[in-house]
Amino acid sequence: MTKNIAVIGMQFGDEGKGKIIDFLAEKADVVARFNGGNNAGHTIKVNDETTILHLIPSGILHKGKINIIGNGLVIDPKVLLEEIEKLRNKGIKVTPDNLVVSGNAHIILEKHIKEDKEKNKHLGTTARGIGPAYTDKVARSGMRLIDYINKNNVLEKQSFSGRRKSEAFSSDLKNIKPFIKNTTLLINNLLNKNKKILFEGAQGTLLDIDFGTYPYVTSSNATVGGICTGLGIGPKKIDKVLGVAKAYTTRVGNGPLPTELKDEVGKKIQKTGNEFGATTGRPRRIGWFDALMCKYSVIVNSLDAIVLTKLDVLSGLEKIKICIGYKHKNKIIKNFSNNSEILENCEPVYEELNGWNENLDGIKNFEDLPENAKKYIKRIEELMEIPISIVSIGPERNQTLILKKEFLF
Ligand code: GDP
Ligand code: IMO
Ligand code: MG
Repeated sequence: MTKNIAVIGMQFGDEGKGKIIDFLAEKADVVARFNGGNNAGHTIKVNDETTILHLIPSGILHKGKINIIGNGLVIDPKVLLEEIEKLRNKGIKVTPDNLVVSGNAHIILEKHIKEDKEKNKHLGTTARGIGPAYTDKVARSGMRLIDYINKNNVLEKQSFSGRRKSEAFSSDLKNIKPFIKNTTLLINNLLNKNKKILFEGAQGTLLDIDFGTYPYVTSSNATVGGICTGLGIGPKKIDKVLGVAKAYTTRVGNGPLPTELKDEVGKKIQKTGNEFGATTGRPRRIGWFDALMCKYSVIVNSLDAIVLTKLDVLSGLEKIKICIGYKHKNKIIKNFSNNSEILENCEPVYEELNGWNENLDGIKNFEDLPENAKKYIKRIEELMEIPISIVSIGPERNQTLILKKEFLF
């Protein structure tokens, strides 16, 4: 029996992780975030009601689940409180019983946001202060939630411009205090009690600080390794690793995107898929599915299975392409590397498949998908050399087709 499942983005983030976590959370006991911060925007749609989560785990819409924000995150206290408030206004319960925050998570300060805005434009960051906060963490000059709670005088060390600002900050921290616990102990206790845990990745493999398209990456490990360091558990505790991939590619912000579509087809996908950032509202760049990139994610995360999302968006295209190689300096490269020289100068080698016209609304079983949609799924499965366990055909919780039950709880 599957005891816990990791859900990791296989591309550049926004693969639909939030939707899938919410879908899987029904049968889980715990949902835990391990990396990033409010650069993430995880969208969940249930009965036409859309919720976008930035810091709070995507299990929060289900009653009776424990949602954990791990030590690996960087937290903007104001944003966390606003998010709690927004959910409560929708009638969703958020209390220290169902939301627990690690005292070891680092705090995003005003100065981090300012620095991100001023210095990181060339990277196209979300300007939420993520990189500068992680920089301070690694430089050992950061402030953790627990440090603030322990020492009230710590404020004096920080560069705040005015008293009013620091008073507001102080009261934000006071309001967060009831949620703070030792989450490492908590999660290990829950694991020992055989509770079913979902590990919720933020961003995606190609945005990972080590494995992504550096320097056009985020400042944390979005890959599976981040779970151990971001929550304080050993790797043997992770049962199944699911990778989430869109049926095409999107990227917000700068950096290489070999399969980028700058034509009408790209525009059509952007429109149909409503490809605008859940955090910043920026238009997402569009490309064809890149099998090299996704195979790399399979390897880096030792994925067990794949969740393929947004298949519905490809309906109505005459031809659909899959990138199966990079042509670089007259050589055909078959294995992905995050070498920017190659990624920026290669030409994608495509395999072309026939599209389908049918709208996928209302389809409940894989068998009922149009033949060419099935062929597309099968071809991706072949290229990835691991099963596709779930196919998502719409943003709603119930627009989800299960292909392989063994990767569920
Ligand atoms: P995340 O960051 O990985 O959680 O993904 P986002 O929420 O940022 O972006 C995914 C977007 O696609 C959201 O607007 C979702 O509501 C939507 N979405 C998720 N799955 C599907 C799907 O299968 N079909 C369609 N059309 N939309 C989807
Ligand atoms: P979710 O969890 C998509 C991108 C930014 C930028 C780069 C660095 O919703 O998938 P940062 O602010 O992290 O320093 O920005 O990473 N980025 C994301 N893109 N989805 C995300 O999260 C992202 N989080 C960061 O656009 O290119
Ligand atoms: Mg997102």
